[in-house]
Amino acid sequence: QDLQSGEFDDPNEESDSDSSEGEEYDGEGLFWPEDKADVFENDSYISVRKKMVSKHNHNLTNILSENSKLCQQFQRKQSSRHYMSMLVQRKNLPAWQERENILDLLDQSQVLVVSGMTGCGKTTQIPQFILDASLRGPAGQVANIVCTQPRRISAISVAQRVAQERAESLGNSVGYQIRLESVKTSATRLLYCTTGVLLRRLEGDADLKGVTHVIVDEVHERTEESDFLLLVLKDLIVQRPDMKIILMSATLNAELFSEYFSNCPTIHIPGQTFPVEQFFLEDAIAETRYVYVIEGNSPYKRKHNSSRIYGPGYKGGPRNAMDYVFDDSESFDKTDFVKDSIPDQDLCLQELFIRYSDVSAPVLKTIAAMDLDKINMDLVERLLEWIVEGNHKYPPGAVLVFMPGMAEIRMLYERLQANTMFNHKGCVVYPLHSSLSNEEQKAIFSRPPDGVTKIIISTNIAETSVTIDDVVYVIDSGKMKEKTYDAAKCMESLEDSWVSRANAMQRKGRAGRVASGVCFHLFTSHCFKHQLAEQQLPEIQRVPLEQLCLRIKILDLFAEKTLESVFSQIIEPPDLESLEAASQQLQDLGALTADEKLTPLGYHLANLPVDVRIGKLMLFGSMFRCLDPALTIAASLASKSPFVSPWNKREEANMKRRAFAVGNSDHLTLLQAYKIQPSWDEGFLCLLQGELPEIASLKRQFAELLSDIGFCREGLRARAIERASTHGADGVLKATGPEANLNSENISLMSAMLCAALYPNVIQVQTPEEYYSDGELKKLPKASELRFLTKSDGYVHVHPSSVNHHTRLYESPFLVYLEKVKTRRVFIRDCSMTSVFPLLLFGGSQINVELHNGEFVLSLDDGWIKFAAPSYQVAALVKELRWELDE
Ligand code: CDP
Ligand code: MG
Repeated sequence: QDLQSGEFDDPNEESDSDSSEGEEYDGEGLFWPEDKADVFENDSYISVRKKMVSKHNHNLTNILSENSKLCQQFQRKQSSRHYMSMLVQRKNLPAWQERENILDLLDQSQVLVVSGMTGCGKTTQIPQFILDASLRGPAGQVANIVCTQPRRISAISVAQRVAQERAESLGNSVGYQIRLESVKTSATRLLYCTTGVLLRRLEGDADLKGVTHVIVDEVHERTEESDFLLLVLKDLIVQRPDMKIILMSATLNAELFSEYFSNCPTIHIPGQTFPVEQFFLEDAIAETRYVYVIEGNSPYKRKHNSSRIYGPGYKGGPRNAMDYVFDDSESFDKTDFVKDSIPDQDLCLQELFIRYSDVSAPVLKTIAAMDLDKINMDLVERLLEWIVEGNHKYPPGAVLVFMPGMAEIRMLYERLQANTMFNHKGCVVYPLHSSLSNEEQKAIFSRPPDGVTKIIISTNIAETSVTIDDVVYVIDSGKMKEKTYDAAKCMESLEDSWVSRANAMQRKGRAGRVASGVCFHLFTSHCFKHQLAEQQLPEIQRVPLEQLCLRIKILDLFAEKTLESVFSQIIEPPDLESLEAASQQLQDLGALTADEKLTPLGYHLANLPVDVRIGKLMLFGSMFRCLDPALTIAASLASKSPFVSPWNKREEANMKRRAFAVGNSDHLTLLQAYKIQPSWDEGFLCLLQGELPEIASLKRQFAELLSDIGFCREGLRARAIERASTHGADGVLKATGPEANLNSENISLMSAMLCAALYPNVIQVQTPEEYYSDGELKKLPKASELRFLTKSDGYVHVHPSSVNHHTRLYESPFLVYLEKVKTRRVFIRDCSMTSVFPLLLFGGSQINVELHNGEFVLSLDDGWIKFAAPSYQVAALVKELRWELDE
């Protein structure tokens, strides 16, 4: 009988007994390697950490006695009033009907797929079925269940709910664990955790000792992490034949998962939902007048770059729809109208028909002015007014509004606060997103008093993982944030995109939980039918694969296998080319060796869930004690450039920026601008638009991630400060200790850090021959005469917005860059001059050294970057780094 420890060890939760010399602990149990140089000296650091992670406390007698206590508690519970009343609710859930079936199937099979409508009781009940069945048996056989959730907030809210259902406090038999936070004890036998936490545990504890059941929830979401976890589990079940795997999915693509696990059994829980009346943009309004809309994505839109609306009697080609006066008395023939008035009539096949009434005349006006690719906040506000006012046949109830992200949630929230109607009518408005605190989150589930309307503005988190029962109205903006691959940056980015039809249906379903409901989609039915994708593409096919490669390599399970063979086992694998590109990139920046072995750098990058280049900058910034500026630059690389130039003010913006110029570097210039924020004049501030808060927030997140892996104590301080709400725009800046920023003012070091991050994106600057004689520059060339050579794209141009656009003399002929933009020519957006030594030291690629006439000729990148250096310089360098050169 496999006995479990009940302990869920996290590398950051080591008890003091694990502390070895050289590590100091702060209050929250993070360890901090005294001498960070060790990290890169050899592999011993890796093995030490792995040992720490894998250390488990297997105290058999303790577990058994905890188990018998749990069994007794469970017996006693059966007569508790609170437990009984919860049980009545639970028994009403559709999942309860399938309880015996599920347990039987699990007896017969190692893997089981369970699907069922959202809210049918999968997440809360199925783990309890297993736990309760085991609590009725002998203490040696009590289950130890881990159930993964795609988001932190759902792990917490579900654990709280389940503890409540069991009439217990959280952390007894039920607990949760998310990054940097957990509520669990040695008695915890059902742990809800994020997918990331379980993956992390697998790094040190490859066969999940003591765990009897792994439940992967929301597998249909197809996140990179959940697909990756399935890959790991597929291997693990061979080594742990006694362990059971349950995959839970909200939609009906159960076959895909069943096939993946050798046609394992599936069970479907029949749904119990109420009908939801569905309205599209064209029906958001009632009756009488006719308007044509050309859809956002139509060829017309592409050609003229706008969406327009045409009304009756309107002749003579496109014109701004707002000019049109809508008139009731006019009647017209739709087909004639199309033929007569719109020149490219075939382009108008997508046009639609909007009906509206007096009640919603403002709504119509709104639509007339709107760009269908953007969410129209006016329309959302009007719809909310209409719902709350109650002059309609639908019953009162909570409203759930789906928005793509925090920015839109905040925007709508502020609008509603400014709108007296929502105060007078008695409304409560809550934002809902993944970074809410527990208290904020609880309020969302509470029922408001009679006559008060609860409005929840949420990201797609409320689509499947968070269930709010009393929702009667759903407003679906049709947008969500989606990770996509930004080819120019070779980096993933989070962008607003249309939801898939499956998402839209799921959103609609949220209105029919307790009674029939209403759903308004802010897109047309045509868009729904023809433009929305059936399903989202799995995330693993949309993102760069460097991180995933590293995470595969860090697992003992896959250490001996080639990346290619591991990738081919993924449920729907990305194409081979992307894998090869990722593997090359990792070798270029020094995270993998040529035979695909993880380097120490690679090991730490594997633990930082960010783009590898950003990760490298963060790690180097920490080790070289210039953490704060490194985080600022990392955050600016990861977000959009804060120097957005409004088209009519472009030259002004460029000039302002040049005034800050530092070290022939756009990145250091940004850093400079960020540092001296308070002295910005207003004109300049408006150029920076909304990006600065984003940078500050990213910096805080990055600091947290670093502290998570022991590289930065500041992250926790930043968090503490944030919690206490005393931080300014930039929590990190205030929280960062002096030791982490000893070198923060050192410009050449910062420039070297940039080189470390951006290599191998290198440009050679070429000055025409005629300006030289005897190897010396005689005269300055014009900026336009310089040529910029890249390895992969040939000659490129420096973008006019770069501080280097007018540069005539580069002290060093090398530039590093992040982003290429392809228009007529290939432009380099932001670039920074780098000297040769950082290229050598931090580039990561194999360096060749040859001796010629007393001078060293150093080359890297197969000789693409090549230069001579006096021997004393190289000798000093070598000494400093204790490099061992063969010659
Ligand atoms: O996982 P699935 O969507 O199938 O349902 P669930 O999350 O297990 O939720 C089942 C029911 O539990 C919901 O319909 C709610 O009534 C209730 N629940 C709750 O009240 N509070 C929560 N935090 C989670 C669930
Ligand atoms: Mg669920």
